[in-house]
Amino acid sequence: MPPLTTPAGVQQANFRFRCIACGDLSDQASQNFRCAQCHDLLEIIYPKWKDAGPDPATLKSTWRQRRLSQSPVDQSGVWRFRDLLPALVTDDQAITLREGNTPLYELPQCARIAGVPRLFAKHQGLNPTGSFKDAGMTVAATFARLAGFRWVACASTGNTSASMAAYAARGGMRSLVLVPEGKISWSKLSQALDYGAVTCQLRTDFDGCLRLLQELVLRAPVYQLNSINPFRLEGQKTLALELLEQLDWQPPDHIIVPGGNLGNSSAIGKALLEMLDLGLISRLPKLSVIQAEGANALVRTLRETGGKRQVSVQAETRATAIRIGNPASWKKAVHVLEATGGACEQVSEIEIAQAKAEIGAEGIGCEPASAVTLAGLKKLVKHGFVKPEESVVLVLTGNLLKDPDFTMEFHRGDLFKNIRDESAAAVLNPLRRPPIVLDATMDAVMRTLEQAEN
Ligand code: F0G
Repeated sequence: MPPLTTPAGVQQANFRFRCIACGDLSDQASQNFRCAQCHDLLEIIYPKWKDAGPDPATLKSTWRQRRLSQSPVDQSGVWRFRDLLPALVTDDQAITLREGNTPLYELPQCARIAGVPRLFAKHQGLNPTGSFKDAGMTVAATFARLAGFRWVACASTGNTSASMAAYAARGGMRSLVLVPEGKISWSKLSQALDYGAVTCQLRTDFDGCLRLLQELVLRAPVYQLNSINPFRLEGQKTLALELLEQLDWQPPDHIIVPGGNLGNSSAIGKALLEMLDLGLISRLPKLSVIQAEGANALVRTLRETGGKRQVSVQAETRATAIRIGNPASWKKAVHVLEATGGACEQVSEIEIAQAKAEIGAEGIGCEPASAVTLAGLKKLVKHGFVKPEESVVLVLTGNLLKDPDFTMEFHRGDLFKNIRDESAAAVLNPLRRPPIVLDATMDAVMRTLEQAEN
């Protein structure tokens, strides 16, 4: 029997684990975070909210007040919302890099392109390790340490591993990273190395890495930090809390997120439903998930089985962060899409590249996986799902600097060389700004400036 992961020093009374399929309730979770009865995923619930949930006005003012504090947990954009998270006994138990606190930007040019009056981007790429993963990782790494683990591990397409390695290092734990060989960006891999992770490039894809990890955690005293771990999703919920606070608790009509392993969409959806239950908001935004055409497991699951059975795919996309064919949290994602009335759409490689350049041209920038949101929005407007007068927030999940190879190949015109899409890629030419090599003369630079002006 694997060791149980009930963290010592945690106020156990504040939350319980519930199986998403059979509803079995437990105070403890086994190391693979699966239900002891039916092996489905677990979620964290807060039984006390049922009778006496926290008062919404008090919560809002507490969260505002904490912004003025110098304490690390108050400065964290995740732990600031700790009233809706698994409780710590003392605040100094949190491993925090002051994550969260990400800006909400308006994107006027992208709004015009997509055909909506107002478009906002919640830029999770401005987290400490450059992706949205930090919001979940600060919580899950904290509970790993509280449970007494020396080792943490994850399978990753790059961002989870970068984030996990950083939080493990800050918390004095060792970390083991399993990534698909040759299929993640160098900048993400280099982060894991720099933060001291034991990094294994496995000759398989992400889904193969995750399968192996699930077995490993049952055999070795290693705490798994993939988004199967429900503490991760609790932390990631705070993205939605912070967003609604930034919007003065007026929900937008739509929130659009990229879908890979489907942890983030599940977490945001959980947060929205909890906010509605607690009276923090009075209506739900529609939460929509966008996938790459080559990694469209959720799209197919919904279209082909009505969300009843998972359809797996052999994933292939240059948006390597979401190159996932067998998303672990598919059931949770189906639930929140249904509960909020959201849509699920897929976009092509060219549409992703175009949207990424359009977001970049606003001075914001993001990694390819994040750009599926704008590409998806254009489709949702075209299909009439997003109405012309509705407000929309895109969740940009990763920083532009996460995948510089993609950006360089795009601007040099090499991204779609020698592949089926080559001629279709002509639509991207007006957005390309390749670097120009010149003699170091005033004339050459002046001529280039004039040409650019014309
Ligand atoms: N965007 C980025 C930049 C990501 O890194 C990921 C997932 C997603 C979107 C999709 O989020 O999996 O919660 O649906 N990256 C994981 C990783 C899988 O290992 O870094 P999801």
